[in-house]
Amino acid sequence: MNRFTLTVLADAARLAWTLAAEVQALSQAPGDAPIAIALAGGATPRRLYETLATPPFVTGVRWERLEIFFSDERAVPPDDPESNFGMAERALLAHVAVRAHRMRAERGDADGYARLLAERVAARRDGVPVLDLVLLGIGPDGHTASLFPGTAALAEQTRWVVMNAVPRLGTRRMTFTFPLLNAARRVWVVAAGAAKRAIVGQCLRARELEAAEQRWPVLGVRPDAGQLTWWLDAAAAGEEA
Ligand code: 6PG
Repeated sequence: MNRFTLTVLADAARLAWTLAAEVQALSQAPGDAPIAIALAGGATPRRLYETLATPPFVTGVRWERLEIFFSDERAVPPDDPESNFGMAERALLAHVAVRAHRMRAERGDADGYARLLAERVAARRDGVPVLDLVLLGIGPDGHTASLFPGTAALAEQTRWVVMNAVPRLGTRRMTFTFPLLNAARRVWVVAAGAAKRAIVGQCLRARELEAAEQRWPVLGVRPDAGQLTWWLDAAAAGEEA
């Protein structure tokens, strides 16, 4: 099975609609097993969240079946404009009845979030929680979640969630690590807009390079057994389309 798929949609609106339809289909899969989804911060996913909060998805998605987590968070309270949870809440969570778990990054309790994942999400044989879906973005430097180039969290082998010092931003953020991301069943890397074209092109060309994740952390996201999909709009895909 091909575990890496690149899908390009015409524009950001169609991208958001397609992803919302995928989330809806996932929620309607046979059975009642809970579905664990980790959301990303940033501007690109916001459009997806807003789309999910409007018809037909706001009533079509089986929200009661979903359990929402976050793949990273800034060290601020939820009402801060920088908060990923706050953004997701305004765009989506406040409009639907879904269970969501905020990362309390301002308290720095990464181990507490890892314990929560262990309690709430079904695990592989080795104990690593298997999220059904992880949403990620790409930053202009190739970062994803809060795994920035040159930061300590890139080397993390055992912990699933850490506080990561990001000297370039003069801050610390809470983030999922590669061991957790790569245990997921599905990972979607989502990028839209012409501003993403250069970094998307660089990353796609560098995918097979050794240790590429040191320079472009998003390339460290290679699910062990799950499916990786890069979802782009035409503007972000550029000549790669
Ligand atoms: C964050 C994110 C981060 C984001 C990328 C892309 O907290 O900032 O989770 O990894 O996804 O920086 O963000 P944009 O979509 O805003 O460009």
